[in-house]
Amino acid sequence: MTLKNPKVTVVGAGNVGATCAQRLIEKNVSDVVLVDIIEGIPQGKALDLMEARPVELHDRKITGSNDYAATKDSDVVVITAGIARKPGMSRDDLLKTNAQIVGGVTNEVVKYSPNSIIIVVSNPLDVMTHLSWVKSKFPPERVFGMAGVLDSARMRFFIAEALNVSCEDVQAMVLGGHGDQMVPMPRFSTVSGIPITELLSPQKINEINERTKNGGIEIVNYLKTGSAYYAPASSAATMVEAIIQDRKRVFPVCAHLSGEYGLKDVFVGVPVKLGQKGIEKIIELKLASEELEALHKSADAVKQNVAKLSELALV
Ligand code: NAI
Ligand code: 2OP
Repeated sequence: MTLKNPKVTVVGAGNVGATCAQRLIEKNVSDVVLVDIIEGIPQGKALDLMEARPVELHDRKITGSNDYAATKDSDVVVITAGIARKPGMSRDDLLKTNAQIVGGVTNEVVKYSPNSIIIVVSNPLDVMTHLSWVKSKFPPERVFGMAGVLDSARMRFFIAEALNVSCEDVQAMVLGGHGDQMVPMPRFSTVSGIPITELLSPQKINEINERTKNGGIEIVNYLKTGSAYYAPASSAATMVEAIIQDRKRVFPVCAHLSGEYGLKDVFVGVPVKLGQKGIEKIIELKLASEELEALHKSADAVKQNVAKLSELALV
């Protein structure tokens, strides 16, 4: 059942945050509070979006603030605060700066919305999700990260483009960390139930896998001053919608594992069921040995970065 008067906070009123807020109100998902550290930015963007309301014809309210008191009793909080990648930077280069930001933001979020569900977007995604979970002291079903929805959306688009079919009929699965070691899963990617392995050559599938892994940097190289935000914002907003409307959607989500896939105490992308309680189930796929090996390798890379957080005394 959809929550009555749902309230969503989006922290970070930059490219991803403001676009996510726009998607949420224009899709009539919830009222939104947009928060940023820079004075005037969340207020100005919120007012601009409210002035679009008579044209877009929705009744959702968005307010902007630099004060977390405005976020009190949010049902869901999306954390997009931090710096974004520039050409030549990996997601891991962002680690130290964004850890300080995400750690501080989580403390404020928890103070005002102790029962919220936190969706982390800031990069490096899996490490920031781990940090936010530790700082929040929330159960793991209420803190998770957005990456798999984006990575699999990219893969879905590339498959649809290659076959000249509607994106609507294409499903794709990308597991693992949101980094160079992410694991596209052609065996679990389909067009109306038909595995893509029956529709595309191994060489084309390999090209799609590689383009998916490099989907983030492909956009950074075009934009030069920042990273992708339209598809990331849509992906985060879809997760919020699944929670607010208790949709029980199944998405790849950066989730805390405690033994699933033979992995413990690490956040990586795996398929989950998302509903009003957050992660309601982690779905364990039967992976082939090389798929499982790739997932473990990806999880190892995440663990190494989490260890860097400890070395820097940030967690
Ligand atoms: P942006 O630079 O446009 O916006 C970031 C915003 O965060 C800025 O408005 C900034 O003032 C704000 N901010 C910085 N420190 C803050 C603090 N302490 N409290 C509140 N706000 C603060 O960046 P963009 O493009 O919106 O990206 C945001 C983050 O999301 C980056 O870390 C980026 O790498 C990540 N990202 C992750 C994706 C994923 O798939 N998980 C996809 C796209 C971006
Ligand atoms: C992306 O994949 C930068 O992580 C971000 O576009």
